[in-house]
Amino acid sequence: MKVLVIGGGAREHALCRSLSLDPDVSALYCAPGNAGIAEVAELRPVDALDGAAVAALATELGAGLVVVGPEAPLVAGVADAVRAVGIPVFGPSAEAAQLEGSKAFAKDVMAAAGVPTARSYVCTTPEEVDEALDAFGAPYVVKDDGLAAGKGVVVTEDLAAARAHALACDRVVIEEYLDGPEVSLFAITDGVTVLPLQPAQDFKRALDGDEGPNTGGMGAYSPLPWADPKLVDEVMELVLQPTVDELRRRGTPFSGLLYAGLAITGRGTRVIEFNARFGDPETQVVLARLQTPLASVLLNAARGTLDAEPPLRWRDDAAVTVVIASHNYPETPRTGDPIEGLAEVAAEDGPDAYVLHAGTRREGDAVVSAGGRVLSVTATGSDLAEARDKAYKAVARIRLDGSQHRTDIAAKAAERP
Ligand code: AMP
Ligand code: GLY
Repeated sequence: MKVLVIGGGAREHALCRSLSLDPDVSALYCAPGNAGIAEVAELRPVDALDGAAVAALATELGAGLVVVGPEAPLVAGVADAVRAVGIPVFGPSAEAAQLEGSKAFAKDVMAAAGVPTARSYVCTTPEEVDEALDAFGAPYVVKDDGLAAGKGVVVTEDLAAARAHALACDRVVIEEYLDGPEVSLFAITDGVTVLPLQPAQDFKRALDGDEGPNTGGMGAYSPLPWADPKLVDEVMELVLQPTVDELRRRGTPFSGLLYAGLAITGRGTRVIEFNARFGDPETQVVLARLQTPLASVLLNAARGTLDAEPPLRWRDDAAVTVVIASHNYPETPRTGDPIEGLAEVAAEDGPDAYVLHAGTRREGDAVVSAGGRVLSVTATGSDLAEARDKAYKAVARIRLDGSQHRTDIAAKAAERP
């Protein structure tokens, strides 16, 4: 099977890496890709937001499966355009992707499906904003209703800051603060059958100790030794299956990757957000542990035959990924800096540690930074402590002027017996 992956971040590099190792995949293409993906897939230029262009490229390549990585093309209807030319596509329709594209829509679906989440108000006027902030009190949680790459959410004790963020958005969701550790749980679905993956934890804040601004994600690990072993079953029953059933009932079935961002609170598990695609950087650690070849699972989801898929198989290994970000990420990341040390990691640390590229591009013989999150250094080990050691050893070999990374990814989880 020929597979075309749309996107160009470390998530797409992880997807391409897994697909390139799958004997069912005869040719692998990625559009637009990045410098690292070019080592496992043939790159094609495309405007990822242009459905007609993506469909034409998939047709030209004779693709038997298109996998759409990021949310923006999904919300723009790229999966619909590919489906319309008769090519199976892994990724939801624009309508179903509203689960991520609009926080208000997601809240409405959750209410109808009885899915536990934070109580919330949708506000469009300053009066509504003040009422909602007053009703919940501090800490305040204020979310831009639209897509914001994980950066439209402000969680703060400061009423003035909460109010200022709310007033800067056209439409905001203001909600109850959820206290407790966060878990990302992904499920592959064809709109009927739901196949959960293994849970992971993401580190959203820029700085060690969960300080600093929210980012797209600075690192991740899996499995979660501290989590209740029944967590996946519980979330399947309370969250994933009811959500998939509700979207089908509405006539907008969700097929693709359903990402539940969860808070494990003292009062039970609550949904913080849904995403309509694989998470980044959690995918890097989840796929590092997945033993089942990926292509047939994604194809069965795309075709509506996921019930034919046997249970997924997982390695016992733990996985850790550490994001290396550019100078000034997430505000105004500096790009164009040369990246050194990639060959050393490949020579000295492989195959258990490897570098997945996010914002990179090739300039002659050099690889240079081309985005906020630049690399996602990933490693597996017999436990989290070993995976973490290997990941940080590889991180230490990378040289990128002004770059930043967190030093505490998976640190607490690795301490537990
Ligand atoms: P979101 O874009 O909805 O995932 O929000 C980004 C981050 O903000 C989440 O990963 C949480 O760390 C935090 N957050 C969002 N909603 C809440 C909430 N209701 N209570 C506490 N923290 C939240
Ligand atoms: N890691 C968070 C996200 O992918 O939205």
